[in-house]
Amino acid sequence: MIRIIRTRDYKELSSAAADVIASQIIAKPDSVLGLATGTSPIGIYDELAERYDKGELDFGWVKSVNLDEYMGLSADNENSYRHFMNTHLFDRINIDKVNTHIPDGMTKDPAKEAASYDRMIQSLGGIDLQLLGIGRNGHIGFNEPSDHFEKCTHEVRLTESTIEANSRLFKSLSDVPTHAITMGIGAIMMARRILLIASGPDKAGILKEALFGNITPKVPASILQLHPDLIVVGDKEALPDVGSDDTYLRFTEKTA
Ligand code: GLP
Repeated sequence: MIRIIRTRDYKELSSAAADVIASQIIAKPDSVLGLATGTSPIGIYDELAERYDKGELDFGWVKSVNLDEYMGLSADNENSYRHFMNTHLFDRINIDKVNTHIPDGMTKDPAKEAASYDRMIQSLGGIDLQLLGIGRNGHIGFNEPSDHFEKCTHEVRLTESTIEANSRLFKSLSDVPTHAITMGIGAIMMARRILLIASGPDKAGILKEALFGNITPKVPASILQLHPDLIVVGDKEALPDVGSDDTYLRFTEKTA
């Protein structure tokens, strides 16, 4: 079943999604959180850091695994996802960095790194809660549209549209890495709960296709329809025409 929470705006989206993560940590302090990058989760990470400051959350036992990393970017490169996670979340809370995992984009042997990333996730007992954004082409992590779902962590060649979309965060288009290493669809789907977030009108079309269209590797996020515990938090702009007449989902609108 899909549970959808539609919020008025990005601020409410961030706080509703942070509620889901916070309740996970409170219920299981040593949770394994699957974390995501991109601009969408920034507000959630701000919320979590604020709640930590207020003494409402303790990340002391939490472990995290991130979805992906650009190939060729080191931890101190400001465009690397390691740098993103440190800045937006890890440096602001009491998580032990040793317990934060992100694929190594500097690896000389991507296949080996990928296999050891999957083993590491397995050794942690899998992911309790996986946070996901959605790419404009329906990618999750960096699982790009394809003719099949890639199960394991793997190196991927980014599509032109992803390079273009993500170039807004780089100095120039040519600075965007052409390859990345990403967790596969297998580990994502094995997460015990998935929290998918989307904000803004740019995401409305692809989100509708992913949640209500055919399940196809051409829209990687569409596989999430098969997950037994999927929570979608989107703002009105990303979820313009989801209504209470949708029978196979539980729909909540945040109004207060
Ligand atoms: C990147 C990340 C994805 C993320 C996507 C959307 O490509 N690899 O995990 O979901 O960007 O990003 P944004 O939230 O900025 O739209």
